[in-house]
Amino acid sequence: MMDMQDILRQARVVVIDDFIANLRLLERVLRQMGIEQVDVFLDPQQGLEHLLTQPWDVLLLDLDMPVLDGFAILARLKEMDRVPPVIVVSALTDIASRHRGLGEGASDYIGKPFDLVELQLKVKNALKLSLANRQLEAQRETLISTINSRSDELGESYYAVIRALTRTLEFRDTDTGQHVERVGASAAMLAQRLGQSAEYVEHIRLAAMMHDVGKVGIPDHILLKRERLDASEQEVMKTHAEMGFRILREAGDTPLVNMATEIALAHHENWDGSGYPRGLSGEAIPLSARITSVSDVYDSLRCGRPYKQCWTAESARDYLIEQRGRMFQPEVVDAFLGMQAEVEAMRTKWLSLHAHIDHQTEVSPAIPVT
Ligand SMILES: [Fe+2]
Ligand SMILES: [Fe+2]
Repeated sequence: MMDMQDILRQARVVVIDDFIANLRLLERVLRQMGIEQVDVFLDPQQGLEHLLTQPWDVLLLDLDMPVLDGFAILARLKEMDRVPPVIVVSALTDIASRHRGLGEGASDYIGKPFDLVELQLKVKNALKLSLANRQLEAQRETLISTINSRSDELGESYYAVIRALTRTLEFRDTDTGQHVERVGASAAMLAQRLGQSAEYVEHIRLAAMMHDVGKVGIPDHILLKRERLDASEQEVMKTHAEMGFRILREAGDTPLVNMATEIALAHHENWDGSGYPRGLSGEAIPLSARITSVSDVYDSLRCGRPYKQCWTAESARDYLIEQRGRMFQPEVVDAFLGMQAEVEAMRTKWLSLHAHIDHQTEVSPAIPVT
């Protein structure tokens, strides 16, 4: 806790009084107390301007002033988040205006002519209170910024761990592992376009990356098969949705994990009900999964697998349009088409960052990719 000398040295006191003799007297008394920062205003309008724009700790305020009186100033101070103590100094000694001043937010009252000892004691008490609040406020702000930087760090670690794990999984069946990152990034862009909150956008960036974690349970001879899967193999492949759901459901109960869980389960559901594993349709499919599904299919078409060729941006676009209202929710497709250029720019940038990876040839599709 600060001692009184420190308090007086740090204190910023404002005086507003339209009577020059009072103003000078108050300023002298305050300076004699050891207060270095005293701002005095003869003009209440200028005083109010200062109060609303500069930091201060205690205000000595006259009530009876022309144009803008003390009551009006008290009313305006209510706009501030935290109003420091206000001591009303006034010749209005009648009980009604004293009550009114206190009712309007003043914390104390000194009548004119001043009792200088009383004045000094009241100013000291008000300053103690005000500076203790100021210290608390500073501590609160430090705490908040510490928490924020910790959670930034935490967010980055989350991202790093999820990226490492999902890319490791993906290395099993592709050569780069970049697909999941692009799906996360474009799902986040889509969510933002669709008006979701910043928190939702950050969650889906990570959650969408985990859409295929269930593939960890698919045997290599099916997952890595270069030819088209037969009917029974396709059935095994489809279990990755349910499997991802079961893995992630065990991972905890946070908004991020819950979103990842619903995406893993529902990212192959179709808007018209023709998807799997549950055959959900329309808004029964979680929004996060409806978004991820468009991002995932687009990126799969565009990037190809080692044994598949890439669709061109135009044919991938045509496919989304063809599936608008079938596989995909129309609004999500429309939002995606509106940002296709950005998605392509991101893809080009990432490919050039990994230039050692051979670019795959682009073709127009003969067989739809699943
Ligand atoms: Fe999948
Ligand atoms: Fe995928």
